[in-house]
Amino acid sequence: MLHRAGTHTFARAWLAAALLAALCTAPIRTARAQAPVASTAHRVPDSMAQRALACTGCHGEQGRAQAEGYVPRLAGKPAGYLLAQLQAFRDGRRRQQTMGALLQALDDEMLAALATHFASLSLPYPPPTGAALPAADARRARELVEQGDTARRIPACQACHGQRLTGVAPHVPGLLGLPADYLIGQIGAWRTGHRHARTPDCMGDVARRLPAADISRVARWLAVQPVPNDASAAAAPPGRWPLECAGQPEATPQVAAASTSTAPAVAAQVARGAYLARVGNCAGCHTAPGGPTLAGAVRLTTPWGDVFAGNLTPDADTGLGRWSAEDFHRAMHEGRGRDGRDLVPVFPYTSFTHVARDDNDALFAYLRSLPPVSRARPAHTLRFPYGTPTILALWRGLNFRPAAALAQAPTGGLARGAYLVRGLGHCGECHAPRNATGAMTESLSGAEMPSEPWYAPSLQPAPGPAGDTRQTVTLLREGRNAHGVASGPMARVVLDSTQHWQAQDLELAARYLHSLTPRATTRAAPAGDPVLLRTGAALYADRCADCHGRDGAGVPGIYPPLAGNPGVTQASIRNLVQILAHGGFAASTAANPRPYGMPPAELSDTQTAAVLSFIRQAFGHRAATVSPLDVARAR
Ligand code: HEC
Ligand code: HEC
Ligand code: HEC
Ligand code: HEC
Ligand code: HEC
Repeated sequence: MLHRAGTHTFARAWLAAALLAALCTAPIRTARAQAPVASTAHRVPDSMAQRALACTGCHGEQGRAQAEGYVPRLAGKPAGYLLAQLQAFRDGRRRQQTMGALLQALDDEMLAALATHFASLSLPYPPPTGAALPAADARRARELVEQGDTARRIPACQACHGQRLTGVAPHVPGLLGLPADYLIGQIGAWRTGHRHARTPDCMGDVARRLPAADISRVARWLAVQPVPNDASAAAAPPGRWPLECAGQPEATPQVAAASTSTAPAVAAQVARGAYLARVGNCAGCHTAPGGPTLAGAVRLTTPWGDVFAGNLTPDADTGLGRWSAEDFHRAMHEGRGRDGRDLVPVFPYTSFTHVARDDNDALFAYLRSLPPVSRARPAHTLRFPYGTPTILALWRGLNFRPAAALAQAPTGGLARGAYLVRGLGHCGECHAPRNATGAMTESLSGAEMPSEPWYAPSLQPAPGPAGDTRQTVTLLREGRNAHGVASGPMARVVLDSTQHWQAQDLELAARYLHSLTPRATTRAAPAGDPVLLRTGAALYADRCADCHGRDGAGVPGIYPPLAGNPGVTQASIRNLVQILAHGGFAASTAANPRPYGMPPAELSDTQTAAVLSFIRQAFGHRAATVSPLDVARAR
C-alpha cells in the first residue's frame, strides 16, 4: 500500500530516459545466446552467470559493457565496491529504476555472490574511443588526476583510485575504460544528491568541490586513456585510508535478542517480542535501509503525501524511552500516540488493533531491549487537508473502531490463523479492497496497491490445484512454489517477514486462508485475434521459451511455470506488465538462497500486449487478451 521513497521514482535530471532504453535493447540478444536451449531435458547450469542473465542484457555479455554509452562495465571491478553499489541500488542511496526493482528482494549474501561473480571476470577492455582533448584541457585534467587542486581541497584522483587509476581493492573502483558520459553522470549524481556512498562519503566531497568545467575535462580525459593490460585493482595499503572511505557498513547496533544479564522469563519475553516484530514486519517501515534497527525516520510515500515512521528504540527524547507498556498497547490497539494524538493510519493499526495484550507486552519488552538511538521523526508532509487533526478524527469516526480487547493471543487452530493474517501479519493492508475513503474492507478479495503499480491478488482459495494449503505454505516460506513465484512487493514480504514465521504459524495462517469463501470462478474469455496471438507466440518462442519452456512448464525450482500459474491468468495485468518491464528475482530465502533472475523484456506496449495475450491463452488458459492501451495504463 506504500513504498519507501526513492525505490520507484527516479527522475534522472542528467540523462534522457530514452538514451537508456535505446542502449538496453541491443545487448539483450547476446544475453539470450547464453540462455539454456529449450528442450525436454531442460538443463540449467547451477552458476552465478546463469543467475545473472537478468543483468547482462543491459551490462553486456559477461558484464563487459560497451565502450560508448552509459551502462557501466562490471567485469573485474573490486568486489567490495560492486557489493556497496548493489546495496545502494536496493536501499535507495543510488537510483536506477530497473536495478532498484530487480534487487529489492535479494539479501546481502546474494548481492555479495553477484558482486564476486562480476569481480572475478577478467576480460580485456576495448581500446579507448573518442577525440583527444585540446592541449590546455588535457593539461588541467592531468593535473587534477595526478596532483589534485590544493586551493579547492581536492586530493589527486590517484590518491584514492590508485597510481594506475585501476582502483584499490576492495572498495575503490578504477576510473579507466569507462565512457565519458557515465563519468560525468556519476559525478553529477553526487552533486545533485542522486548518489551517496555510506558515510564518510569522500567521493561526495570531491564531487562537490570540482568546478563544472573540470568535471567534463577530467571525464573526457579519463575516457581516452589506454587501459593497462593488467587492469586489476591495486592491493590496499595496509590499515591506511582510503579504506575508511567507502563501503564500510554504517555501525548498526546489533539487536540484543535476549540480553545475558536479565532473568530468563524476561529474556524469553524479549525473544518472543523479536519474533512478533518479524511477523508484523515492523522493520519494513521503521528501519531505514542500512540504518540502525527500528530507529525510524523512514519516509513512506502515499498518494496523499509522505509520512515518516517513528523511532521505536528506547531513546528518551526521540523514541519510546518515556513510554509505558500501557502507552504502547494504546498505540497498537487504538492508534493513538503517547500524547493522545490520532496516528496516521499508514501505521497499520486498523490491523494491529486485533493484537492481544500479551503480544503487545512482548513486543514492547523487545523494543525496550534495543540500543537507544537518538533520531527524531521528521514532520509528515501530507497534502492539505489530509493529516489535519480534523480530517483524521473524521476518518477514524467513519472507519475505525478498536477491536474487542483480547488479553491473550490464541495459540492454535483457525483462530490463531485468523489472528495472524488479520492482526499482526496485516495481510489485508494490501490484499483487501478499500472503500471510497481509503479504509480497508473485511474481505481479502484482492486490490490494487495505491502507491505502487502492483495488484495484490485475492487470498480466497482458488479452485484447482493452486488452491492447496501446502503450496501456500511453501510460497510464504520459500518465495516460490509449484505454481509460481512471489514477485515485487510480495517478494519483500517473504524476505522480511513470512520466511521467518514458525512452521506452525505459517500452517495455521494458510489453513485460515483456505477456509475463506472460495473465489468466484471466472468465465472463459473468448479466443483472441489469431494475428495477435501469432505475434505473441513468435515473441514467446524468441524471448521467453529458453527459460519458461515451449510448453510453459518452466524448470522446477529455477524458472517458474507460466502454465497453470494463477498470476498469469488473473484479471489484473498490472503485475505481468511490471515483471516484463523490470524483470525480477524471487526473494532470497533459506530454501532458495540464490534465486535465478528474469531480465527486463524491453518490449513495446504492442509487443507486451501480444506476448501477454499469448501466455493468457496458451497452455490451456482462457483468460482475456490484452490491448496495448491496457499495457500503457498498467505501466
Ligand atoms: C535496465 C538495464 C539494467 C539492468 C537489467 C541491470 N543494470 Fe546495473 N546498471 C544499469 C545502469 C543504467 C547503471 C548506471 C546507473 C547510474 O547511473 O548510477 C547500472 C549500474 C550498475 C552498477 C554500478 C557500477 C559502477 O561501476 O558503479 C552495478 C554494480 C550494477 N549495475 C550491477 C547490476 C547487476 C548485478 C544486475 C543484475 C542483477 C544489473 N546491474 C542489472 C542498468 C541495468
Ligand atoms: C578521497 C578519496 C577519493 C578521491 C580523492 C577521489 N575519489 Fe573518486 N571515489 C572514491 C570512492 C571511495 C569511490 C567509490 C564510492 C562508492 O562506493 O560509491 C569513488 C568513486 C568514483 C567514481 C564512480 C565510479 C563508478 O564506477 O561509478 C568516479 C567517476 C570518481 N570516483 C571519479 C573521481 C575523480 C575524477 C577524482 C579526481 C578528481 C576522484 N574520483 C577522486 C574516492 C575518491
Ligand atoms: C506499513 C508501515 C508500518 C508498519 C508495518 C509498522 N508501522 Fe509503526 N508506524 C508507521 C508510521 C507511518 C507511523 C507514524 C504514525 C504517525 O506518526 O501518525 C508509525 C507509528 C508507530 C508508533 C507510534 C510512535 C510514535 O512516536 O508516536 C508505534 C508505537 C509503532 N508504529 C509501532 C509499530 C510496531 C510495533 C510495528 C510492528 C509490529 C509497526 N509499528 C509496524 C508505519 C508502520
Ligand atoms: C505490501 C503489500 C503486501 C502485503 C503486506 C502482503 N502481500 Fe501478499 N501479495 C502482494 C502482491 C503485490 C502480490 C502479487 C505478487 C505476485 O504476483 O507474485 C501478493 C501475492 C500473494 C500471494 C500469492 C497469491 C496468488 O494467487 O498467486 C499470497 C499467497 C500472498 N500474497 C499472501 C500474503 C499473506 C499471507 C500476507 C500477510 C502475511 C501478505 N500476502 C501480505 C502484496 C502484499
Ligand atoms: C533468463 C530466464 C528468463 C527469461 C528469458 C524470461 N523469464 Fe520470466 N521469469 C524468470 C524468473 C527467474 C522468474 C522469477 C522471478 C520473479 O518473478 O521475480 C520469472 C518470472 C516471470 C513471471 C512471473 C511468474 C510468477 O509466478 O509470478 C512471468 C509472468 C514471466 N516471467 C514471463 C516471462 C515472459 C513473457 C518472458 C519473455 C518475454 C520471460 N518471462 C522471459 C526467468 C526468465
